[in-house]
Amino acid sequence: MDPLNFTKKHVLVTGGSNGIGNGIARAFRDAGAVVTITGTRSAEKYETDIEDMAFIQADLGTDDEVQKVAREAGQVDILVNNAGMVAYRRQEFQTEIFRRILDVNLTSIMTLSELLKPGLAEVSGSIINISSLTSFFASSGNPAYGASKAGIVQLTKSLAVAWAADGVRVNAIAPGWIATSMTEVSQNREAINSEILRRTPVGRWGQPEDIAGVALFLASPLASYVTGETITVDGGFSCSI
Ligand SMILES: NC(=O)c1ccc[n+]([C@@H]2O[C@H](COP(=O)([O-])OP(=O)(O)OC[C@H]3O[C@@H](n4cnc5c(N)ncnc54)[C@H](OP(=O)(O)O)[C@@H]3O)[C@@H](O)[C@H]2O)c1
Repeated sequence: MDPLNFTKKHVLVTGGSNGIGNGIARAFRDAGAVVTITGTRSAEKYETDIEDMAFIQADLGTDDEVQKVAREAGQVDILVNNAGMVAYRRQEFQTEIFRRILDVNLTSIMTLSELLKPGLAEVSGSIINISSLTSFFASSGNPAYGASKAGIVQLTKSLAVAWAADGVRVNAIAPGWIATSMTEVSQNREAINSEILRRTPVGRWGQPEDIAGVALFLASPLASYVTGETITVDGGFSCSI
């Protein structure tokens, strides 16, 4: 049996409507999985490839909406907590915005994982959280984003240890610079773009597919002894100067 064949597995990808989450959702779909995604708008508003995916509209910044996602998704074998947001122009220095970013990027992961955990335990399932290089580096303009992403690394370890005896593995991926709408500002500013390329040994921006491959590995039996781990996928950026 091909360990990367996900036929009959149900995969829920939060924020599967766009960017990295969409790349992960497409990869699982193409590997045979039944895929459910979430997005903040209604399904017909997306120009991305969400074909053959069930769609749940939700803002993960409120408990009610997170509970709705858990209810509508039902039994899940693989949960990918990918949805995330950032607020630019120093907005994250305001407490209200700080709290909102923490709610969307971190608290929703705890709530959704806990709600889906009984079902995940029944099938020895797996959770994959999307963190960031800002889990490890300062994020001087985005203190909420950085704190939420650092929190994901720690939460990943805690849930991995708490749920190992129930057969649920919990891991994270820390992407480097990936070309999505979230990083459009950096892609379009020549000085930032060229510095990113200079410091990235593989010499290019990452693509959602680069993250998807690692997500498939982590969800597969190939990674059955991997839990509590955050894998950095950054083309070598973080070990370069
Ligand atoms: N791009 C990078 O370089 C990079 C690096 C490290 C980590 N990450 C992380 O990777 C994940 C995906 O980011 P991306 O780069 O793919 O960005 P993106 O293209 O902007 O996608 C973000 C996704 O999250 C969803 N989302 C945003 N706010 C939400 C909210 N309040 N409630 C529910 N869903 C919400 C979006 O839904 P809509 O489609 O409806 O907007 C979208 O599906 C995020 O957790 C991000 O922090 C990205």
